[in-house]
Amino acid sequence: MEKEEELVDMDEKGNTIQKEKQKSNKTLSLTSKIFMFVLILIIIFFGILYIFRTFKRRSQIELIITNNYDEMSLRAADIITDLIKKNPNANLGLATGSTPLGLYKELIKRNAKKEISFSNIKTYNLDEYCGIPQNHEKSYFSFMKNNLFNYIDINPNNTHIPKAEGDIKINIQNYEKMLEKNKLNLQLLGVGRNGHIGFNEPGTDFNLGVHDVQLAEKTIQDNARFFENDINKVPKRAITMGIKNILDADTIILMANGTKKAEAIKNMMSGVVDKNIPVSALNIHKGKVYVIVDKEAANKL
Ligand code: GLP
Repeated sequence: MEKEEELVDMDEKGNTIQKEKQKSNKTLSLTSKIFMFVLILIIIFFGILYIFRTFKRRSQIELIITNNYDEMSLRAADIITDLIKKNPNANLGLATGSTPLGLYKELIKRNAKKEISFSNIKTYNLDEYCGIPQNHEKSYFSFMKNNLFNYIDINPNNTHIPKAEGDIKINIQNYEKMLEKNKLNLQLLGVGRNGHIGFNEPGTDFNLGVHDVQLAEKTIQDNARFFENDINKVPKRAITMGIKNILDADTIILMANGTKKAEAIKNMMSGVVDKNIPVSALNIHKGKVYVIVDKEAANKL
């Protein structure tokens, strides 16, 4: 009889232990389920945040891939024509280099056909070389006169290019003040092989306004073609709008053609924001950015 009671007792104990084991197993699996659930929630949260940030950064960028240089120039001319028609008093930020030459030719044509007028337009150029006089045939002042201003109905007093002669510090301050007073409706940009915009070379602080710079070796080599391929003739310093000034413009048009620019365009379009790739600053522009490229400049996308 006693033995039977003992057996029943043991049986009950066994059951209780079993039940407790099951209970703790259940609690354990519930904890791991909650843990997994929270982990998944965190992953989803950061995933959405990442997608949102990338989307937000790139949402204003419109990439236009054209068949060739002429088509690229026409697309840029169309955007500028629209802007001038809507706002005949617009402030335009202009660029030099070989990239915008076709665009300037097209604007000259449209101005001659009276499709657009520059009579109330004000222009502000990105940069100017230091160390050569303003009237030097290779200065950006001469470039703008020879490739655009002399052939359109613009008032020369409404055209502005940084002054790189005399007191550079004062000239920089004055250009900065002028840009503060005259918000740019549009900034036109080319891009250097090393990703520079204006003369903002890799490593430039994105918060800098108008400043003077030492040109990068690559830039000096690239620009030698405008100086009879003689590196020694290329100025080594320049005054440039800073990236801050460029980003202050309402709309930006970035133009690029040729395989030499493909790397810079790929880097920029990746959405990265890196001060070693100055053109990547366009990813944090708050307004509209048109990236107009030919097939070759797009061949790494
Ligand atoms: C120069 C100018 C830039 C220009 C760049 C590219 O360095 N400062 O404004 O974008 O050259 O020149 P290109 O259009 O001739 O390739």
